[in-house]
Amino acid sequence: MNRRTTVLSTTAVVALTAALTLSGCSSDSSSGAAGSDGKPELKVSGAFMPQPVMDMAGGFLTIKNESGTADKLTSVTSSLSDDVQIHETKNQKMQQVKSFDIPANGELDLERGGNHIMFMGLKTKPKQGDKVSIELHFEKADPIKVDLPVEAATHNPKQH
Ligand code: CU
Repeated sequence: MNRRTTVLSTTAVVALTAALTLSGCSSDSSSGAAGSDGKPELKVSGAFMPQPVMDMAGGFLTIKNESGTADKLTSVTSSLSDDVQIHETKNQKMQQVKSFDIPANGELDLERGGNHIMFMGLKTKPKQGDKVSIELHFEKADPIKVDLPVEAATHNPKQH
C-alpha cells in the first residue's frame, strides 16, 4: 500500500517536471520573435458594435498576436461610456473579468455569445452606420485605437 503510493507520486513528479521543461523551452525559443522593442505585435480585425437596443452595448473584434510574446487585454476606454467592461460568458451568463489572455502566436476572439466588450450607461445611442472610437489597453503592448462600425442589432459575422 505504502509502496504503491510512492510509485504513483513519483510518476506525477516526472510528468510535472516534463511539463515545466516544455513550457520553459517554448518561451525561450520564441522570445526572439517579438518586436524590436520586445513588445507583442497585435493586430485588430473584424471589429463591430451591434446597434444598441438599451442603454448598454456590446463590442466584438479579434486581436491577433503575431509575436512570441503573450499579452493581455486589460481594459477598454471610449467616449461613449465611462464604464466600459470586459465580460466573459459562462453558462449563458456574462460576468466581468479583469483581463483576457492573448496567447503568443495566437488570437483573442471577442464574439457574440462569448467573450465581449460591454459598454455600460451609454451617453448617446449610436445608430447603424455610425462609428464608435475605442482604445484597447494591454499589459505589455501600446494601446490601440479602433473604430467600431455600428451594425444591425442582430449582426453576427460568424453565422454567414
Ligand atoms: Cu456583457
